[in-house]
Amino acid sequence: MSKELRIGLVGYGFMGRTHSNAYKQVSQFFPSLYRPVLKAVCARDEAKAKAFAENWGYESIETDWRKLVARPDIDAIDICTPNNLHKDIAIAAAAAGKMVLCEKPLSITTAEGEEMCAAIEKAGVANTVWYNYRRVPAVTLAKQLIDEGRLGRIFHYRANFLQDWTINADLPQGGQALWRLDAQAAGSGVTGDLLAHCIDTALWLNGSISDVSAVTETFVKERMHNLTGKVEKVGIDDACTFHCHFKNGSLGLFESTRYARGHKALYTLEINGEHASIRWDLHDLHRLQYFDYADDSIVRGWRSVHVTDGDQPYMKNWWVPGLQIGYEHTFTHQVADFLKSLETGTPCSPTFRESLETQKVCDAVLASAKDRCWVDVA
Ligand SMILES: NC(=O)c1ccc[n+]([C@@H]2O[C@H](COP(=O)([O-])OP(=O)(O)OC[C@H]3O[C@@H](n4cnc5c(N)ncnc54)[C@H](O)[C@@H]3O)[C@@H](O)[C@H]2O)c1
Repeated sequence: MSKELRIGLVGYGFMGRTHSNAYKQVSQFFPSLYRPVLKAVCARDEAKAKAFAENWGYESIETDWRKLVARPDIDAIDICTPNNLHKDIAIAAAAAGKMVLCEKPLSITTAEGEEMCAAIEKAGVANTVWYNYRRVPAVTLAKQLIDEGRLGRIFHYRANFLQDWTINADLPQGGQALWRLDAQAAGSGVTGDLLAHCIDTALWLNGSISDVSAVTETFVKERMHNLTGKVEKVGIDDACTFHCHFKNGSLGLFESTRYARGHKALYTLEINGEHASIRWDLHDLHRLQYFDYADDSIVRGWRSVHVTDGDQPYMKNWWVPGLQIGYEHTFTHQVADFLKSLETGTPCSPTFRESLETQKVCDAVLASAKDRCWVDVA
């Protein structure tokens, strides 16, 4: 007999949809003791909330997240709002004894993240942060290969996250859909939005980062603000490049921008070790490129591993070997792992506390760019 996990979702945008899809799909593919029930969705616009609830099968709506958090028929609060709301919702949810699943980045700053971790840990509630790229089967396989020691000593970690959607200088900042350009709502630009993903994956695959040296640029300095109607200074970083030392002695190189014409969401990573190298590309997410120096020299070269077999991460729960899955399944995997964690009592990574490490690197990157110097990660 399965137990219900009654979900209260805050925010019905892009992530509200990916998470709802995952809650609906997970129990069929990853049977577990716990089964998500779409209890309520919260959004400020009642009509839109109702339409979303109807479309996705939520039983009810709220227009104030405080009311949602206080409801006794909700077990877990899922935060899919702009970044500046994560802290208040998470702390209130924890205080009400709810489990919390929070979108990334955990917080706007490390200090806010610390408060969130303290609240979650005081309440002792299950928690996780949606760094979903860890759960692309090819990326999880990369983790397995590294942990098995197949790469040997790691020398280089390289990651890019490139987009091109803010090149137009007439694009306003702030409000619905454009909150990412507003420093008040987003905290930072590409650093907290895109590099946070690259940093989370890097910390997971290659361990801690000790110090960073960064440059950022804001190419369009002023934009009309949708909330004030005035042309205002742009406070976010449009592009960020940083290099770093990892604690294992390897060097890291990271680049992110929203000004790389032709790239929509090109997240790539490459890891070069003593024995082998790995490469992964979000636009070809079901493949892992692998080079093994131990191969016979006459056939040695980069292999393109199609990650679809039952013995590869997550894949035995899907179709048959050779048939790939996609982006949305990374969220289903995160829900599946969260449900499993409730059964086993082992926290679902990355927890709030683990995600705070990413926040510390983001803060060090922004401080380094501002002060034009190397900064130790706190
Ligand atoms: N894991 C990922 O790959 C990934 C991808 C995109 C976004 N995100 C993160 O998810 C979060 C949401 O991003 P998004 O792309 O879904 O944004 P979005 O703009 O599509 O949706 C945000 C939602 O929040 C709602 N909202 C805003 N203020 C609210 C309030 N006071 N009460 C209730 N609802 C409110 C908006 O109405 C909207 O429905 C951000 O933190 C973002 O960084 C993560």
